[in-house]
Amino acid sequence: MSALTIHKGLAGVVVDRTAVSMVNPDTNSLTYRGYPVQDLAANCTFEEVAYLLWHGELPTPAQLAEQNAAERAHRALPHDLVLTLLALPESAHPMDTLRTAVSILGANDPDEDDNSPEANQAKALRLFAALPSVVALTQRRRRGLLPLAPREDLGYAENFLYLSLGSIPEPEIVRAFETSLVLYAEHSFNASTFTSRVVTSTLSDLYSAVTAAIGALKGPLHGGANEAVMATFEEIGDPSSAEAWLKTALAEKRKIMGFGHRVYKNGDSRVPTMRRALQTVAELRDGHRLLDLYESLARAMYAEKGLHPNLDYPAGPAYHLMGFDTPVFTPIFVASRITGWTAHISEQLAANSLIRPSSVYSGPAQRALSR
Ligand code: ACO
Repeated sequence: MSALTIHKGLAGVVVDRTAVSMVNPDTNSLTYRGYPVQDLAANCTFEEVAYLLWHGELPTPAQLAEQNAAERAHRALPHDLVLTLLALPESAHPMDTLRTAVSILGANDPDEDDNSPEANQAKALRLFAALPSVVALTQRRRRGLLPLAPREDLGYAENFLYLSLGSIPEPEIVRAFETSLVLYAEHSFNASTFTSRVVTSTLSDLYSAVTAAIGALKGPLHGGANEAVMATFEEIGDPSSAEAWLKTALAEKRKIMGFGHRVYKNGDSRVPTMRRALQTVAELRDGHRLLDLYESLARAMYAEKGLHPNLDYPAGPAYHLMGFDTPVFTPIFVASRITGWTAHISEQLAANSLIRPSSVYSGPAQRALSR
């Protein structure tokens, strides 16, 4: 590679190997540790997928039982953390609350700077266990409600929904939610995962890497798109307005959230699975109008720009129909992606090299300082 070749946005640049997942846009496939994500979504719990991402294999019943016991034991947030989070302004975005929570958990962890595989795996599991409680705290606070105590008798997805919404929904809704968690868990060197690897490459700590990754995921070109999709649907209002709305938005050079992808150019491999989950939720939650809007805008977008939806497009309306407030959508993505991020942090540390690209200088030529 010539030193003067600029790869804006690092598009197409291969910076390392990974054994965590493979995105293949040619075959429109995504595999976690070799397993197609659609098969994992159909057959596995999110806890099993987390184990797979961290350890490279699906768990045996005994391994899963051990992980589940540890996860359930770490769901409750320290009292001081709850008080600190409740002291943040009510207007704080839930992503900011989540980022702050991870940072505080790091500051309180005596093992924060222990980068051994064992210590980092223990931290990953504790964050995995605690994040639903933080997300739920932000959801309930928006409705003037205090946090609920986690329930150790419930699986991960059921407990997450119970903590957030105050009751356990129908099994089909729980499964649709779990499907979204499996699909969001991992996606190779996306912007937030790469961020976590950059921070890790300086031999900083796992909490710092995750805090930075949350910041990267917040942006609307990345995870923030699932929230922006709902804002788009609200702006359009009626399915019959989708086409005209889109023509105007494109004429104004607006980016249409939930469409396009850096890697997939012929459709996001996760969308069909999440679209089916959305259908299930829509049928149980009187969401047919939202589904019509979904289809109208997708059709118009393909006709106008040839662009396909990405995962955020079906996930946003699905979370809305489940009962989540829009600003909580991207934090749910974080609670899922913590599994992929921490798997990559371990992989980075196992064969580390400082990530430090080069640039072409475009400022003033060297000049004399006349003072
Ligand atoms: N709306 C309108 N035009 C678009 C969109 C879109 N959503 N996506 C791509 N385009 C257009 C661009 O304007 C550009 O057109 P041009 O060549 O005429 O200028 C062309 O398609 C190429 O787009 P880029 O932005 O250069 O493609 P890139 O690979 O850098 O971007 C990205 C990928 C950032 C995801 C982009 O498609 C986008 O902004 N989408 C909307 C945000 C979004 O949905 N993000 C979620 C990503 S997936 C995830 O996080 C789960």
